Amino acid sequence: MKLAQVDQLFTGFRLATMALPGTVLGTDLDGTPLLSAGQSCFGEIPDAVIGVANGRIAWIVPRSMLLEPDGQGPVEVIDGHGRWITPGLVDCHTHLVYGGNRANEWESRLNGVPYAEIARQGGGILSSVRSTRDASEDELVRSARGRLERLMSEGVTTVEIKSGYGLDVETELKMLRAARRLEAEMNVRVVTTLLAAHAVPPEFKGRTDDYVDLVCKKIIPAAKELCTAVDAFCESIAFDCAQTTRVFQAAIDEGLRIKVHAEQLTYTGMAVIAAEMGALSVDHIEYLPDRDCETLARCGTVATLLPGAFYCLRETRLPPVAALRQAGVPIAISTDSNPGSSPVVSLLLMGNMACNLFGLTCGEALAGMTRNAAMALGLQGEVGTLQPGCVADLAVWNVGSPPEILYGIGHNPCVAVYKNGKRTL
Ligand code: NIG
Ligand code: FE
Repeated sequence: MKLAQVDQLFTGFRLATMALPGTVLGTDLDGTPLLSAGQSCFGEIPDAVIGVANGRIAWIVPRSMLLEPDGQGPVEVIDGHGRWITPGLVDCHTHLVYGGNRANEWESRLNGVPYAEIARQGGGILSSVRSTRDASEDELVRSARGRLERLMSEGVTTVEIKSGYGLDVETELKMLRAARRLEAEMNVRVVTTLLAAHAVPPEFKGRTDDYVDLVCKKIIPAAKELCTAVDAFCESIAFDCAQTTRVFQAAIDEGLRIKVHAEQLTYTGMAVIAAEMGALSVDHIEYLPDRDCETLARCGTVATLLPGAFYCLRETRLPPVAALRQAGVPIAISTDSNPGSSPVVSLLLMGNMACNLFGLTCGEALAGMTRNAAMALGLQGEVGTLQPGCVADLAVWNVGSPPEILYGIGHNPCVAVYKNGKRTL
């Protein structure tokens, strides 16, 4: 038996691979399987070694199968001293880049003014649009950097960042460029999404269809090199199903993926339309009826749940977790980090809330921040699991068992992070 040559060995760790049961985790050079993920919801492997070559996982094998490297180049050995290791966390839905903040609006909401009413009065998203248009690209990078550092300190190695506070060609591109710069300047993978259809900008008030034309004909073509997907806010206070569908068709025509903010405040039916159009994910979905879950499952669309927005908007309607589970829809969990509905910079807290508020198991919540979040970005098999072929993005935890990662509130048990096999924290 011979193993493929590697340049790093992670040994002495307890692994939560988060790989689906049956996933082959290691083969010898002839392709003979040596280890597969078992039935545990964490894909646990108690005593295995991860071989990494050029920043990617080459194989994972039981320690007993490890042979002396013969005639290979130098191998760096990293000893975990019994600590737990998981895939680097994936935050698959954020609005991390924006100008200003909306603490004043929060105060109004505490005094009883509803989120939708603030939006109708020209506040809410449009208030962040004003401050984002006023901010320079450097200022946007600087303020987002602080928030991103907080996420990364908890083991996040991949983050999605949406535009959506520009609502004109120039500012949407400025936001996407700022997001791309964060990847270039920090040790994190950034996936960028165009959310030009987030709200109707003031200059198009009462002319929503004209703005949708601008999104389809100008903003999407101008932004297509700076993003991989197009998102939209389908809601009574934003875009209807026909307008959202138009935006998505324009995105698909440009070769971009789609995803949607849907069924957050009311039911529109857009989640199933988006799924049928090939959406990567449908996000929020508190008002999704049970009957729609089958379609999501059939279309392979991820349900992204956002407990931060649920909590901050004091929503009482719960997402249909039992029906999603029953239909076999992959569930992702994300911060939705944004200045209005979810000023959150802790993915671990979201995992805790997904359990305590939405009734997910710890295994489901952790899968929602790793494997399923990767799927929501079209990055399954690349990030989000410990398995051959994935990048060696790893988070190390000072915990006794995987549930302890999500158990504490305001407690961060992440003690080390590796990005492409290189220690970054
Ligand atoms: O995901 N639902 C729409 N968009 C954001 C809120 C953005 C904001 O309030 O600034 C969300 O909740
Ligand atoms: Fe959002």
